[in-house]
Amino acid sequence: MADVRLTPVTPGDRPDVAAWLVRESWPFHADGAADAAAVERRLAADDDGGSASYRVLRDGGPVGLVRVLDLGDPTVEIDVRIAGAVRGQGLGTAAVRLLVDLVLAGHPDVLRIEAATRQDNAAMRAVLRRCGFVKEAHHRDAWPAPDGTLRDTVIYALLRRDHESGTTTPVVWDD
Ligand SMILES: CC(C)(COP(=O)(O)OP(=O)(O)OC[C@H]1O[C@@H](n2cnc3c(N)ncnc32)[C@H](O)[C@@H]1OP(=O)(O)O)[C@@H](O)C(=O)NCCC(=O)NCCS
Repeated sequence: MADVRLTPVTPGDRPDVAAWLVRESWPFHADGAADAAAVERRLAADDDGGSASYRVLRDGGPVGLVRVLDLGDPTVEIDVRIAGAVRGQGLGTAAVRLLVDLVLAGHPDVLRIEAATRQDNAAMRAVLRRCGFVKEAHHRDAWPAPDGTLRDTVIYALLRRDHESGTTTPVVWDD
């Protein structure tokens, strides 16, 4: 069984992390083609405390990056990236579970954790469902894809109270 952990990205790690982000392929991210300097600037935004970034380590080696944004708000947003060569091995699921625990334990005012993804990102949607997130919204034509087309955006969220009680509150759609 692999040992999966999260470790904070320090300012000294940022050039390596930025180079990795630029080197890898992110077919479901609008910022896929950003250059390393721009990525480093984005990571440096963590310094004001409104966001935080963690490397995903498997058996001590870096395999991914997770971020939490909007810290200070009752609803935070997460972003999850696993290296292309090791996707589909359970790392995304393990990383989201660890991130949820970390955010809820470290930020008592956070009540909801949200994740937005492209409708056809089946892997991310599977990860979110496995981690207890519930689909709350479907926005048609809201995601500009790199090929110039518009795709749908789906939004999932996990409630602190569900996480703490081990339940899943469904969305009331027939209201
Ligand atoms: C999305 C991502 C984080 C998922 O992490 P992962 O380590 O690949 O996912 P896991 O191995 O934990 O798989 C979790 C589930 O996804 C499913 N899955 C994995 N790859 C899949 C694929 N290409 N298509 C459909 N389902 C897939 C697995 O079967 C598993 O589902 P199950 O529990 O029902 O069997 C990862 O693939 C990734 O980094 N992709 C590129 C970046 C990205 O799209 N991030 C999300 C941005 S919002």
